[in-house]
Amino acid sequence: MIKKFHIISYGCQMNVYDNEIITSILIRCNLLYVINILDADLIIINTCSIREKAETTVYNKLLYLNSLKKKKKIYIGVVGCMVRRLKFINNLKKNIIDFVLGPDQYRELPYIIKSIENNRYFSNVLLSNEETYSNIFPSKIYNINKVTTYVTITRGCDNMCTFCVVPFTRGRERSKSPKNILNECNKLYEMGYKEVTLLGQNVDSYLWTKETHIKKNIKKEFKQINFSMLLELIATKLPNIRIRFCTSNPHDMSLSVIKIIKKYNNICKYIHLPVQSGSNKILKLMKRKYTRLNYIKLIENIRNIIPECAISYDIITGFCNETEKDHIDTLNLMKYIKYDFGYMFIYSHRKGTYAYNKYKDNVSFDIKKRRLYDIIKLQRKHSKLNLKKYLNTIQHVLIESDSKKNSNYWSGRNSQNLIIIFKKNGEKLGEFVNVKILSYTSATLIGEKIKYY
Ligand code: SAH
Ligand code: F3S
Repeated sequence: MIKKFHIISYGCQMNVYDNEIITSILIRCNLLYVINILDADLIIINTCSIREKAETTVYNKLLYLNSLKKKKKIYIGVVGCMVRRLKFINNLKKNIIDFVLGPDQYRELPYIIKSIENNRYFSNVLLSNEETYSNIFPSKIYNINKVTTYVTITRGCDNMCTFCVVPFTRGRERSKSPKNILNECNKLYEMGYKEVTLLGQNVDSYLWTKETHIKKNIKKEFKQINFSMLLELIATKLPNIRIRFCTSNPHDMSLSVIKIIKKYNNICKYIHLPVQSGSNKILKLMKRKYTRLNYIKLIENIRNIIPECAISYDIITGFCNETEKDHIDTLNLMKYIKYDFGYMFIYSHRKGTYAYNKYKDNVSFDIKKRRLYDIIKLQRKHSKLNLKKYLNTIQHVLIESDSKKNSNYWSGRNSQNLIIIFKKNGEKLGEFVNVKILSYTSATLIGEKIKYY
């Protein structure tokens, strides 16, 4: 009988949140979560497909689990983004995998547990247009710090960026109701959480439509809540919780969202704004729906309205047909914007995407790697300049954990999402403190707590 489970997770914050949904469902079936994989009799791998490397890692993990399975009776489930793309599942399923579940099918878990105990293989990879798991409160049992956490507000994505598998692996975009989101945030606050990050592939396209009856059966009205309204709602109803959000597609980010960020102290002054490329030609090939100029104007609007706002990006190097000139356009855009930090990736040609079907993956791996390195090098320079700006300033920091390098120090973040460490002196996890910045390393600010300012 299955009694104890363990989840191995890959990929983005969405998967971290989904692990919590899975855990919540399994706990309701009286299963126990165990930290050590060797103690589990059910092992679930929550997979990621975004780049080829992520899929290779999962494959290797499955081979390891297969070796475990030979020694002991264990059940293995593969769930998440990879399951609709798994050709190898057909080869491996008989020996290794007991069930396969898509990201919209986790409610099936109680039934599956029974089914696999009777040695029946189970698979459901269908996507849903409605599932948001809105009535399932995610289990936080393995959230270690109990200070910051995620709340998913939309699932799926309707933007068909030509390089991206997400619309195929996670399906159509749907939004969770504001009431549900508020209830979840409220409950987290009552549990002691101090910060929530609202999650979606494209949070700015959040839209909830509610039908209201003005007079019984006579007139119907549709009330819509968009992302800026949702942000304002959470910021006002929960003034003591700090709010972040991720990810914003530049095409959908409105001026009203920027104004709401400015208006409320508890909304962090940090926006992750993936640009992907600084070349108009590449942006068009990627079907990103904005130009370099639109993007720059958006950044200027943000900086005019919220001068202290930190901005980060995602950039892909070596997309199909990217020339040296396109790459230089990207570097020049970076030089113009001087981002606070960023995430850079080597382009991975993903089967099933528009780019895979229509374009050639014609930039060599060496060139992709070199261009990535150019971007990393430039970002290091900008990050350093940016951190220097904070010297001698006083930052409001939420204490999130021990510093990784020295447990005599706390580690926390300011509104701009920068990591700040300072010496412990009787403070507690989850406390907000003021820290004077005295020095910095390549990615961290170092300071000392001050009592008054
Ligand atoms: N919703 C987000 C992106 C989610 S995927 C947005 O609007 O931008 C996270 C990041 O992974 C993307 O921003 C992109 O930079 C990167 N990525 C996605 N597909 C990729 C691929 N095929 N190869 C390399 N990087 C990719
Ligand atoms: Fe992917 Fe573009 Fe959506 S990067 S997640 S298709 S916004």
